[in-house]
Amino acid sequence: MRKQIAAANWKMNLTLQQGEELLDNILSKISSVEEGRQAVFAVPAPYLVMAQQKVAGKQNIFVAAQNCYSKKSGAYTGEISVEMLQSLGVTFVVLGHSERREYFNESNQLLADKINIALEYNITPIFCCGEPLAIREAGTQNDFVAQQLEESLYHLSAEQLQKIVIAYEPIWAIGTGKTASSAQAEEMHAFIRLQLQDKYGIDVAESITILYGGSVKAANAKELFGQPDVDGGLVGGASLIADEFVAIINALK
Ligand code: PGA
Repeated sequence: MRKQIAAANWKMNLTLQQGEELLDNILSKISSVEEGRQAVFAVPAPYLVMAQQKVAGKQNIFVAAQNCYSKKSGAYTGEISVEMLQSLGVTFVVLGHSERREYFNESNQLLADKINIALEYNITPIFCCGEPLAIREAGTQNDFVAQQLEESLYHLSAEQLQKIVIAYEPIWAIGTGKTASSAQAEEMHAFIRLQLQDKYGIDVAESITILYGGSVKAANAKELFGQPDVDGGLVGGASLIADEFVAIINALK
């Protein structure tokens, strides 16, 4: 079976002390995650070392950066390189979150470059895609997402693609409390998998973990994760509450 993943996205929230307390609280309830499942914590950059130390040695629990830069190193003040992440032992990086695309003008092409460098350093990209409300209302969400996949991923070899996690996050469902229905999520996840199948073949497509993101919480996780093509979630708001996120990890298939 595909790897099932519950990924917390803390975004730009919590002080260091609050972050430590939250992580301690969650890890006191879940000290390891069984094979086939993973829990990932995408914490703000200044907390990566702290989080990495806390999860070190814990089975199937990992830390993610929320972003990285597309260049190896050099005069890019304020940016974080994948080499830095690798040196901390960080194994995942969230790329192309809609907030990065919208507020920081990240294009599909820039994301392709970031994916390349992350893979070069053996860091697993959690590549986010998903449509804004106007596109959903126009009914053209499939074309929109297909283009995101094409422009950021399809230059990869099958072997490289299999190292990526995809997160489908309809922008209208992020932080709004408005979750896509499990049927809407499944429909898009199946569509994404079909696109991957057309390009890379069925075996590759079947092996890719596709997360759903957008107002996932304890109350809807089981239903969403129960869909055949939904392999877990990327969770914002509810990941800041220990009991909620623990329940979400426990809702994985
Ligand atoms: P949300 O955020 O769970 O608060 O909707 C999800 C995300 O942006 O990754």
